[in-house]
Amino acid sequence: MAQLWGGRFTKETDKLVYDFNASISFDKRFYAQDIRGSIAHVTMLARQKILTEEEKNQIIEGLNGIREDVENGTLLITEEYEDIHSFVEANLIGRIGDVGKKLHTGRSRNDQVALDMKLYTRDEILELDGLLKGLLEVLLKLMKEHTETYMPGFTHLQKAQPVTLAHHLGAYFEMFRRDRSRMKDIYRRMNTCPLGAGALAGTTYPLDREYTAELLEFDGPTLNSMDSVSDRDYLIELLSAMSTVMMHLSRFSEEVIIWNSNEYQFVELDDAYSTGSSIMPQKKNPDIAELVRGKTGRVYGALMSLLTAMKGIPLAYNKDMQEDKEQVFDAIDTTKGCLALFTGMLDTMKFRREKMADSAKNGFTNATDAADYLVNHGVPFRDAHGIVGQLVLSCIEKDKALDDLTLEEYKAVSTVFEEDIYEAISMKTCVEMRNVIGAPGKAAMEKVIAQEEAYLAAE
Ligand code: ARG
Repeated sequence: MAQLWGGRFTKETDKLVYDFNASISFDKRFYAQDIRGSIAHVTMLARQKILTEEEKNQIIEGLNGIREDVENGTLLITEEYEDIHSFVEANLIGRIGDVGKKLHTGRSRNDQVALDMKLYTRDEILELDGLLKGLLEVLLKLMKEHTETYMPGFTHLQKAQPVTLAHHLGAYFEMFRRDRSRMKDIYRRMNTCPLGAGALAGTTYPLDREYTAELLEFDGPTLNSMDSVSDRDYLIELLSAMSTVMMHLSRFSEEVIIWNSNEYQFVELDDAYSTGSSIMPQKKNPDIAELVRGKTGRVYGALMSLLTAMKGIPLAYNKDMQEDKEQVFDAIDTTKGCLALFTGMLDTMKFRREKMADSAKNGFTNATDAADYLVNHGVPFRDAHGIVGQLVLSCIEKDKALDDLTLEEYKAVSTVFEEDIYEAISMKTCVEMRNVIGAPGKAAMEKVIAQEEAYLAAE
């Protein structure tokens, strides 16, 4: 048991207590951030003449050595230390002797861990953003390819009106684009440096907090030392943004599962992205999409867990806050993993154009357009709605589509119908006439695609 404290204790910590309290098993993942923060701290301490140049150089050399050895595998981060901060400090003293004991001057583990977590999270936000961008690139590529791939658009999971695959995928493009902008917002709001807040009330040393913040690429120092050590808002925001990413991925996964079903057959998953059954030889299952849908719950759970952990915590630092890490790490790993896998699955998936178009032809997706035809010939919309309703009913009885009715059958319900009704309700017309911005018509879709392309190129 290697601890940074013990002076005022007369007994050893109980082993169970030690294990319960320790965080090394999970905070070891930010050893590099811990070392980076310490290097900035001693650089500032020397500039403020709190340490000598010589002491600073020795400490930095020792810290860099620790990082290198951890990275080349010669130094293992073992659980005999309470946390990553103790591990680094103990190793530093082991390497460079007593001067290593000066590293923690004007610092507490409370502002240190607050810093480490921010440094770690900042990097992860950039990674999440990169993965989201990768997904958007695949979506845009598919959108360009499928501006004339017709498919049914649904409401209530009932066929509603025909759209294109480009349009359907474009909806997800908007969702993931918003997810990216949420990442950017969080980064901007969290980017202040807590180092120098001490345990809770700052320090008596003449620290230059602006300088440390600058060394660590923050926009500036945090402005209240109590808030600095007990702020976990940015983690809650990130968990919320990741929950939204997962909610989007889960909806999309649900659609992939439906599209891949025997009944729909809109898509075929690549063999590399599907799995088989141990008993049923014919099976090719969409396990990746199902796992993404399933893992969404973990990320939501982490959000609820941290919100709940924080709700009763008085100022300033309390050990409850250590509970942020495992949840946030797991949520980040899960979201990143799901983004990468989903992107690969989408990129390799085959879309079955004929099946999609056939499906759009059946199910009366052009009924609104038949009513609009009547409206364009002077029939009030409510009457047109009733007339087409009657036609649909007779189609159901005869097991026909609107396109298959003869002109006589049309005229039997309304004499307004003429030969051009077939052209007016063809799928191509139904889609191509919808050309207001945001609609599936090819011209409108191409304008949107150009805008999204410019957005991706600018980022
Ligand atoms: N492992 C702790 C955490 O994650 C580090 C801070 C320890 N501070 C303290 N006062 N015990 O929150």
